[in-house]
Amino acid sequence: KEIKLWGGRFEESVTDIVEKFTESISFDKQLYKHDIMGSKAHASMLAQQGLISLSDKDSILKGLDEIERSIEAGEFVWRTDREDVHMNIEAALTDMVGEPAKKLHTARSRNDQVSTDFRLWCRDAIDWIVASIRNLQVALVKLALKNEGLIIPGYTHLQRAQPVLLQHLLLAFVEQLDRDAGRLLDCKARLNFSPLGACALAGTGLPIDRFMTSNALGFTAPLRNSIDAVSDRDFVLEFLSANSIIAVHLSRIGEEWVLWASEEFGFITPSDSVSTGSSIMPQKKNPDPMELVRGKSARVIGDLVTLLTLCKGLPLAYNRDLQEDKEPAFDSVKTVIGMLEVSAEFAQNITFNDERIRKALPAGYLDATTLADYLGIPFRTSHDIVGRSVALCVFKNCQLQDLSLEDMRSLSPVFDNDVYEFLGVENAVNKFSSYGSTGLACVADQLGYWVSKLEIN
Ligand code: ARG
Repeated sequence: KEIKLWGGRFEESVTDIVEKFTESISFDKQLYKHDIMGSKAHASMLAQQGLISLSDKDSILKGLDEIERSIEAGEFVWRTDREDVHMNIEAALTDMVGEPAKKLHTARSRNDQVSTDFRLWCRDAIDWIVASIRNLQVALVKLALKNEGLIIPGYTHLQRAQPVLLQHLLLAFVEQLDRDAGRLLDCKARLNFSPLGACALAGTGLPIDRFMTSNALGFTAPLRNSIDAVSDRDFVLEFLSANSIIAVHLSRIGEEWVLWASEEFGFITPSDSVSTGSSIMPQKKNPDPMELVRGKSARVIGDLVTLLTLCKGLPLAYNRDLQEDKEPAFDSVKTVIGMLEVSAEFAQNITFNDERIRKALPAGYLDATTLADYLGIPFRTSHDIVGRSVALCVFKNCQLQDLSLEDMRSLSPVFDNDVYEFLGVENAVNKFSSYGSTGLACVADQLGYWVSKLEIN
């Protein structure tokens, strides 16, 4: 058996069971690119500070390049007995270039190294997710552009409430996704500080330059406190919180579209390419992708809860428990990207059943609130009068616009001939004119904003 990098004080090697239980290489190898980046910055700084020679630095950098190449070519052998990504790469570098590699870990610990790698990875992962968010926003805006003027019932309590433009509703999702992207970018700015050089927990007496490595790695600045630098994972907590909010938003879109695809709603028809069948019921065509978007939100929330629970009982500074921070983060990122991608795919593959929606629109007195506004008398009084108008319609089994002026005047003398311009869903929708409401002009403004912001042509 190979002697561990930390093996000096040990007389026995760890048992196979312990080795298997404590390894993290099976998952943290995903950090290889960022680990190599960090090591290169560190080696260059050590050379600049005269802590290693220029030729040592050159062998280290060349060796690291070769390791990166061999990992990407699938030739690199990851060894469980070398525990984690940091020691796998360092040991392989030593195998390759010998003595100079043994100087790389000067003024560095795996504790500052892992936090550095993980921050660099999260920074990239945030960019991947933001790009996927933009794609979904574009798909939603394009779906809105395809369905100009289509009115659908708006719901509260899942009961028919007021008529809205479909475009308005789709743009509500676009707004939510925009805040999601904003939260990720805020998180990125806050996590972008360098732990490198904090070493195990106390810093170092060697004359290193933490500002140099911080700069080289694109961080804003080195973290001020070495104990904080190695012990906290609030940056991942914040990241997974933002991911959980995204997941919840997507789950709600999933729920909406699953409902809309039902026979009962019948608002949309997903194409076959985004539907799946039943192994027993030959007639079935199910919106599984969006059900799974709803379902997978549970994992993303679970990943956050895992991490919160992991961190809550830890004394300062580094504890090995923290090795458990990576899998939830990897899973959260992979899952959220999958959810965003499939939602965009679904949005591109649904058609709205205009005819059916139009036929269903008259039900539910969607124009009642517009009618109450029409009366222009104290709102509580008009609410009551329109309430009684609706009761009359229920009694007569008709719509508000079917009531005669006489019927209406029997409830209030304020009703006049122009009342019919306020009734029916088309009329009602067009009465909404205040900033941010669902009227044609307001929605056209919103749409214009997103078309230009997302550079859709
Ligand atoms: N694999 C470890 C982790 O992911 C790296 C740091 C290990 N540090 C230590 N002192 N054992 O957290």
